[in-house]
Amino acid sequence: MFFIGKHLIKTRFLLAPMAGVSEMPFRIIAGELGAGLATTELISAKGICQNSERARKYLRFNKEKEIPYSVQLFGGEEKVMAEAAVYVAKLGANIIDINFGCPVKKVTKTGAGSAFLKTPIRIFNLIKTIKSALGNEIPITAKIRSGWDADQINFLEVGKILEDAGCEAIAIHGRTRAQGYVGLSDWGIIKKLKDCVKIPVIGNGDIISADQANVRLLETNCDAVMIGRGALGNPWIFQELKYKKKPNQKEIYDLIIRHLDEHLEYNSIKSFRNHLIWYSKGYTGNAQFRSLVAELTEINHIKEIIGNFFLNTVKENNSSIVTHCIDYRQAFG
Ligand SMILES: Cc1cc2nc3c(=O)[nH]c(=O)nc-3n(C[C@H](O)[C@H](O)[C@H](O)COP(=O)(O)O)c2cc1C
Repeated sequence: MFFIGKHLIKTRFLLAPMAGVSEMPFRIIAGELGAGLATTELISAKGICQNSERARKYLRFNKEKEIPYSVQLFGGEEKVMAEAAVYVAKLGANIIDINFGCPVKKVTKTGAGSAFLKTPIRIFNLIKTIKSALGNEIPITAKIRSGWDADQINFLEVGKILEDAGCEAIAIHGRTRAQGYVGLSDWGIIKKLKDCVKIPVIGNGDIISADQANVRLLETNCDAVMIGRGALGNPWIFQELKYKKKPNQKEIYDLIIRHLDEHLEYNSIKSFRNHLIWYSKGYTGNAQFRSLVAELTEINHIKEIIGNFFLNTVKENNSSIVTHCIDYRQAFG
């Protein structure tokens, strides 16, 4: 465990914010299984200020179950970001996370996400502006990449700036913006950041097993690790880490049905298909399962197929992150 500001984070294994994935039901499931923190996907500060339907949907949270409730904001304008931060704090956010890592062009061309890494002074000014609008009650955290590109790897400078500006924790994905998902996350970089700042550092990139998560913690001495793609279709990775327990077939089936039901409260079956694809990774006969669920729209029929498949098929292997990886850009639009 560790603290982010005054908030105790009960485990050192966190769910990464993921657009199209980290909505309330999945965050709660991850938390119940053992994730210490599950931040929302990136939410547009502008959208919040304009009270957009999409922003309102992404801000949905459960006051009892999500403690602390951490909201990730993105935007390139200080004033708008500060206004959005005040809004989400009033709504009940306990932690506000700022996205300085998003590589998507739609985001960076507005000066937001990883575009900030090109001009670190903007990061300082942004955090200061948000802090002076919010006061010291709500901790601000940041999620960064190692730099903009191979010529501008400046995570140490950015880390120091974040600390000086009053940021309370930094999550770092050990790739540059230019790398996207190519190559491997550089955990040497993550260790260097941990050695350089006093605030908690959360390492991120390419963790797909409980063993790897533990090794990364040991190697880097990071305060926590953040797991993204490795939790797609496998939120039990947090259970394995916290309780040293793998789920049985019935538990897998029950959780998928629960996830589906909670997802459907606010979404269509169409947007759950990706989850079904991820859940079926590593199972024999999953191609047939996928084509079946891709065609169907009747919920009870889909549930029957889920039952037939997950209650009668044994998982063969833990699939690799490469096959797990969907393009962030694809998910985010
Ligand atoms: C589908 C998808 C959506 C993502 N959305 C976000 C996001 O909203 N905010 C963010 O900071 N990072 C986002 N990321 C990046 C992840 O949080 C994480 O940094 C990255 O996937 C590397 O970690 P991993 O190797 O454990 O997946 C997203 C990644 C994926 C795969």
